[in-house]
Amino acid sequence: MTREASAQRYHDRTRQTPESFRTSDFQLDLENKPHPYKIYEKLRSVSLSSTIRPPQIPTLRAITGNGQPSSMLSSPDRETITQLCYFATGITKTIQRGGHSIPFRAAACTGALYHVELYVICGPLPGLDAGVYHFDPRTLSLDLLRTGDFRGVCGPTAPFVMVPTTVWWRNAWKYRARTYRHAFWDSGTILANLLAVAHALELPAHVETGFVDEQIAELLGIDIDDEAPIALVPIGAPKDAQAVTKPPALEPIDPETRSDLPVEYELIREAYTASMLPDTAAVRTWRTNSTSLSNGDAVSPGTRHQIDLTPVGDERAVKTPLHWTIRRRGSCREYVRDSLSFSKISTILDRSIRDVPLDVGDSGPLRFSDPYLIINDVQTVQNGAYQYHPETGSLERLRAGTFRSEAAHLALDQQLAADAALCLFFLADLDAVTGCLGDRGYRVAQLEAAITAGRLYLGTYAHRDLGGTGLTFYDDEITAFFSPRAKGQTPMFLWTLGRPA
Ligand SMILES: Cc1cc2nc3c(=O)[nH]c(=O)nc-3n(C[C@H](O)[C@H](O)[C@H](O)COP(=O)(O)O)c2cc1C
Repeated sequence: MTREASAQRYHDRTRQTPESFRTSDFQLDLENKPHPYKIYEKLRSVSLSSTIRPPQIPTLRAITGNGQPSSMLSSPDRETITQLCYFATGITKTIQRGGHSIPFRAAACTGALYHVELYVICGPLPGLDAGVYHFDPRTLSLDLLRTGDFRGVCGPTAPFVMVPTTVWWRNAWKYRARTYRHAFWDSGTILANLLAVAHALELPAHVETGFVDEQIAELLGIDIDDEAPIALVPIGAPKDAQAVTKPPALEPIDPETRSDLPVEYELIREAYTASMLPDTAAVRTWRTNSTSLSNGDAVSPGTRHQIDLTPVGDERAVKTPLHWTIRRRGSCREYVRDSLSFSKISTILDRSIRDVPLDVGDSGPLRFSDPYLIINDVQTVQNGAYQYHPETGSLERLRAGTFRSEAAHLALDQQLAADAALCLFFLADLDAVTGCLGDRGYRVAQLEAAITAGRLYLGTYAHRDLGGTGLTFYDDEITAFFSPRAKGQTPMFLWTLGRPA
């Protein structure tokens, strides 16, 4: 097996099929359910601001930021960190069910298992000393892991860097080896929130996918077999940062207390380690090579019937403030069948499916995957299977017809997909992606689709009468459904949108 084959091998071996579901005897071990939080008992805790300044700009404007706001005027402080942590992974609501309080978080997460942790690596900020911190959403505080300015270990210079990590077992408890995919899906929804909040605060922010994995893990005091970094998000004007060129020697940090017994999934470990970058030279090569993959590799528009989207401009679009949308968001549990306005759908697609500020590939919407749709009920648009071409803002009809039962089947036979007004599938050509970027390309293809889906969550929930949810799926059935156009492509993410019941 070549190094390049690992991502493909992982993907192939974690495909879900009707057969794999029928024959699976897997049962959740409720006695061994992982803890939902990482708790550092022995570290000093630093309270974040008690009042959270709500980001007020309209959601649809916040999600369109490409990482480079024109005015970069804001100077980050402790309140900025509070806002970013809270609106990315904070506890935004608690629901009472069966005598229990169930906390829900700012961004969607498969199975509500909340396996993504958030860290802050900062230089000195007003109200916050330079250090490496872990965000504790229960107490809205930071655990101080290290005192001092360690930003240079991350490579990019910025006033601070936020790092989502995934605690594998917390998600693998339910999803087993599929968790490697979920690591990017569930980091992606958080990153969409982080980018939107940074944009609302007029702070430049982008997502670095090239970093020395083990170095970042060492800095955070984590072991990549248990918990691994997914991306770096440098935030703030680069000139403010202090460059540290050589990582200092670091002491290990006490791990959290655990009482559950993690089950290890070799496929996850193999997929992650095969895609690590060993040193800064490899990071440089990663960035250089990866510019050769552009959205020119996307499946080009065909000659079938095209419909131009009709998005409304900012002046006519809904002005729901970002903080309101994030607090309101919650994955839709049931849709009522209803016809949705084409102009609203157009506006959501137009604002959400845009350039994701990544360190790889050329700029442009969706460099690594193509969006396909099943439209079941959108005014003035014939029901059918479509491909969306973000570069021209048009929908191309691949097949006319009402495909509600097919949609449900593709989504693991879930009714939500049948009742949704539309289902949006992101499909990537993994041969092309890994051929160009190697195994790490797989991470980025998943992450770009997931960040886009995170924006779709926000864009949808900015509209009071709409709801949406990510769904999991049968992989090969989706490719087959959209073939011949999608031949050679495989699904990264499935998003659905409709009228909540
Ligand atoms: C990538 C992704 C896949 C999901 N898949 C499903 C699914 O297959 N079925 C489902 O009912 N909910 C699904 N969800 C919704 C989660 O269950 C939901 O996000 C979680 O329970 C947290 O609730 P909230 O989104 O309302 O905050 C998915 C969410 C994400 C982000």
